[in-house]
Amino acid sequence: MSSAHSAVPTAGSVPSPTSPVSSSPALAAPTITELLDFVRRTARNEALIASLPLDPEGRTWIRLDGPGGSEAWLIGWPPGTGTGWHDHADSIGAFTTAAGALKEHSLAVRLPTDGWKTLELTDGVDRSRELAAGQGRAFGQNHVHEVLNESEDVHAVSVHAYYPPLPRIRRFSRTGAVLRLEQTESPEDWQ
Ligand SMILES: [Fe+2]
Repeated sequence: MSSAHSAVPTAGSVPSPTSPVSSSPALAAPTITELLDFVRRTARNEALIASLPLDPEGRTWIRLDGPGGSEAWLIGWPPGTGTGWHDHADSIGAFTTAAGALKEHSLAVRLPTDGWKTLELTDGVDRSRELAAGQGRAFGQNHVHEVLNESEDVHAVSVHAYYPPLPRIRRFSRTGAVLRLEQTESPEDWQ
C-alpha cells in the first residue's frame, strides 16, 4: 500500500503547497542495512538480553526503540515454539539470534496482495536457514517466513526490527504445497 503519488505539481493547477509544518526533525527511514546493524548491535548487549523474562510455557517480548522510528522487539523462544507462516506486508525488517539458535523457513515468492484464500506453491520456492547466536538476516517487503526454535532444551532469544512499524501481519497455514490465508492480524494480536 505504498502511495506512489508524490507531489508532482501540474502546471496551472493548485497553488504549490506550503512546506509542511514539522515540529520535530524529520527521521530518515532506516535502510535494511541499518536495521540489521541495529539488531546485531542490540544482540551483543548482554545486560539487555539477560533482562528478558523467559517463560518455559511460551514466548516473551520486550518492545525496544528501533532506529528511525522502526518497531523493534526482543523475543524469547522456549524450545519447540515458533511463529507459524506469516508476512509483514510492506515493512522491511531484520532479526538476529542473540542466544540459542533459530531456524527460518521462507518462501522465495511474491504472494498476491489480496483476493485469494489458497495458493499452490511451485517447486523450488522453499528456503531454509539456521541462525546461530550472532547470526541474523534482513528482508525486504512482503517477506514470507516462519521462525522456529527447534531445540529440545535450549531457550532462544532474538532481536527484531521492522520499518515501517508493522501495520498488519497475514497468517498462513501450509499443507504441502498449499498455502492458505488464515487471518490478518494487527500488531496487538500478534503478541
Ligand atoms: Fe516475521
